[in-house]
Amino acid sequence: MTTLIEATAEGIATAAAMINAGGLIAFGTETVYGLGADATNAAAVARVFEAKGRPHFNPLISHYPNAAAAFAHVMSNERAERLAAAFWPGPLTLVLPRRPHCPVCLLAGAGLDTLAVRVPQGHVVTALLVACARPVAAPSANRSGQVSPTTPAHVLDGLNGRIDAILNSGPCRVGVESTVLDLTGPLPFLLRPGGVPREAIEAVIGPIQQGLTLAQAQATRGLRSPGLLVSHYAPGLPVRLNAADVATDEALLAFGPPLAGAGTLFQLSVTKDLTEAASRLFEGLRCLDRAPSRRIAVMPVPDTGLGAAINDRLQRAAAPREVPSNGV
Ligand code: TXA
Ligand code: MG
Repeated sequence: MTTLIEATAEGIATAAAMINAGGLIAFGTETVYGLGADATNAAAVARVFEAKGRPHFNPLISHYPNAAAAFAHVMSNERAERLAAAFWPGPLTLVLPRRPHCPVCLLAGAGLDTLAVRVPQGHVVTALLVACARPVAAPSANRSGQVSPTTPAHVLDGLNGRIDAILNSGPCRVGVESTVLDLTGPLPFLLRPGGVPREAIEAVIGPIQQGLTLAQAQATRGLRSPGLLVSHYAPGLPVRLNAADVATDEALLAFGPPLAGAGTLFQLSVTKDLTEAASRLFEGLRCLDRAPSRRIAVMPVPDTGLGAAINDRLQRAAAPREVPSNGV
């Protein structure tokens, strides 16, 4: 049984004690719900992969209450310090070299000599991380390859009975995962567009290297980051992008004034507000997936700011559903 823990001071302390005892606890962040485990406990981390049904051990992000705690486990550099000052706590994940005595278990980092670190925003998650007093490894709290959860109900949809508890901090504010930026090379490399737009990062540290386009990702299976896998965030129904019209047997994911004729409709943002649209994206895909429709048609979303993260998730949701060779 998976229990729902309310985010009172007592509930947060209970959740932290469960994580520190090796349990699996889903918790809300500003982006999506994460499935948390003690990052220093390889057995607990192994249960995370098992609960999600991840076929291979992809590296997990380690979560910290503040930058000082994160940089105690990885080697920071000037760019990292500036980005941390600008965006932490917030939806940015930095990939940096592990420090020699970093206590994060190798399984959490998939045996790499780099580690992804993040300081999420929100008083519940910060209090939880302070109470744990150790890094918490947390992928999104969904079954592998499925849509990320932005409410406790979404988490239960995929993981009920497979995890110990959910710490309820209500719906997530941002709604798409963190931006993942690799700072281990000479030039910063955007591994995953996310909650902090590329333009905002470039305003702080200058030009960053373009991540793979979907076409490049399809061409190269040797991906630097498993989050770049092509089919991901996939609802059950097929997805058709850039819809200029909609059939009566299609469900419509609308952005702005909706196209006429849809069977079922979910509005991302009637005023075309990208922040609102990001926060409603995964809810919309889940909702339309339950519609008695043949397919989900998606209206075009501009590719600027948070739109890049939204389009990245939509393109993956629409990609052919082959099983990638290096897992999801
Ligand atoms: O917003 C988020 O980032 C959420 C919340 C829970 O924090 N977490 C999340 O985790 O989205 P996950 O596991 O679904 O995605 C983590 C991404 C994956 O694409 C993974 O491959 C990449 O980060 N990653 C983790 N460690 C890495 C590393 N050392 N090098 C390169 N990529 C890494
Ligand atoms: Mg995920």
